[in-house]
Amino acid sequence: MDGDNDVCVLQRRLAEAGQSHLLQFWEELSVAEQQELLMDLKDMDLKELSQAFQRAMMGSGHLPGQENVDARMEPVPREALGSATRDESQLPAWEEEGLRHISQSKVAVLLLAGGQGTRLGVSYPKGMYDVGLPSHKTLFQIQAERILKLQQVAEKQYGLECVIPWYIMTSGRTMESTKEFFLKHKYFGLKKENVVFFHQGMLPAMDFDGKILLEEKGKISMAPDGNGGLYQALRAHHIVEDMEQRGIGSIHVYCVDNILVKVADPRFIGFCIHKGADCGAKVVEKTNPTEPVGVVCQVGGVYQVVEYSEISLATAQKRSHDGRLLFNAGNIANHYFTMEFLKDIVNVYEPRLQHHVAQKKIPYIDVATGKYLKPDKPNGIKMEKFVFDIFQFAKKFVVYEVLREDEFSPLKNADSQNGKDNPTTARHALMSLHHCWVLNAGGHFVDENGTRLPAIPRLKDANDSPIQCEISPLISYGGEGLEKLVKDKEFHAPLLIDRSGVHELVKNGTTGSL
Ligand code: UTP
Repeated sequence: MDGDNDVCVLQRRLAEAGQSHLLQFWEELSVAEQQELLMDLKDMDLKELSQAFQRAMMGSGHLPGQENVDARMEPVPREALGSATRDESQLPAWEEEGLRHISQSKVAVLLLAGGQGTRLGVSYPKGMYDVGLPSHKTLFQIQAERILKLQQVAEKQYGLECVIPWYIMTSGRTMESTKEFFLKHKYFGLKKENVVFFHQGMLPAMDFDGKILLEEKGKISMAPDGNGGLYQALRAHHIVEDMEQRGIGSIHVYCVDNILVKVADPRFIGFCIHKGADCGAKVVEKTNPTEPVGVVCQVGGVYQVVEYSEISLATAQKRSHDGRLLFNAGNIANHYFTMEFLKDIVNVYEPRLQHHVAQKKIPYIDVATGKYLKPDKPNGIKMEKFVFDIFQFAKKFVVYEVLREDEFSPLKNADSQNGKDNPTTARHALMSLHHCWVLNAGGHFVDENGTRLPAIPRLKDANDSPIQCEISPLISYGGEGLEKLVKDKEFHAPLLIDRSGVHELVKNGTTGSL
């Protein structure tokens, strides 16, 4: 019988790989559960998995020759650096260059949305999260509308109808719900054929000895293989071919959780093109030596991201003559690739990337007792590749520094967990920025007595709300074009500016249009 044969073959393979425990509860499983487990294990390359585990544990994901990183780090040289503040005079030229490429439909955006969002702790994909803005838009909607707006801006400037295709990487677990969400919301006004979903690979979670963990008696504990799983996924789903067919030349890669992300930022793209770079990273200035953020730098002449845990405090505290931290290029996982570079990565370099090890608390079935256990300290590892691991292969690498308050506020934690990177901080970051846009465009906010509110609101603590102000991305991509709506006008907060007009949202939840 075929089925019996399959089981025998599997038993032998598992025994050879030291993973026999995975069939410990075989007899207790229903036929359907047995079939599912069989299917999951059938396609798993146990040998490759074991090698990846050995390599990852030995190197902990470091690049070869990565010992003593500290001593060999060099900062990004000025000639490889563009800055939204220090190179202000060049911004219009970079923006024009970027917009020209966008208008020719040569720019695509690639969203990394395959994470599990464990810290946020919701059961649905993070992009579907509503941080509680006056409009209640989700992260996906905000990003979609920025794409729509940018297409319009480029079309207006160059008179060409254009498309910014949106490639969305999900995981096996979030694919269906993500697609359903887009369908339900009619792709937020984008054309369905220009939104391409694909999913990344998964890897089993293991204990510290390399034994695969069971999530249920008949189910292996699987997790996405890190945002660097992107490159394998691009290959598996022929995404690069799709990009080529559309004539894409530049790709902007970013993370789903940054509420301020400037999707397909023309200045960043224009800067990278202007510099003739094949790979670029957008960064924000790290100002505190102990901030837990990876920094972009060179190690032995090769660009990479060095994690905060890999360097000594003394190195983290080093300052250059201008008083800024020497290693201040804080990585925000916001990258530029040329098509040629991405093709090389996918077709040539990807197999050279090593997995990093993340120690985690992984709930599991104890094979000795059959009990489901939830550990309170790390009991195993997940293996992940990182999206930035490919910097080392760039022929010309550049770095573009932007202001944190304009472009970076990630949603990582639930509100109850800690005061950092949560729905409240994300909501406040967006509203503070939009408040500034209104002020810069000549508008004012007044209190209930008509007295003007100070431009810099006095917040009592981190949880105190800034002036509530939200501007639809369909109205403004980066603060432009607001004068005609707000100049010399006075507003009561909460203020919402969208395509239907300028609305003061009165307390009972109804809208008072101005
Ligand atoms: P994080 O490392 O912050 O992970 O991802 P996460 O899944 O959002 O949250 P936690 O750690 O489980 O709480 C940074 C970005 O990389 C993507 C995420 O979707 C997010 O945009 N990512 C992460 C992937 O696309 N795939 C992965 O395997 C991991």
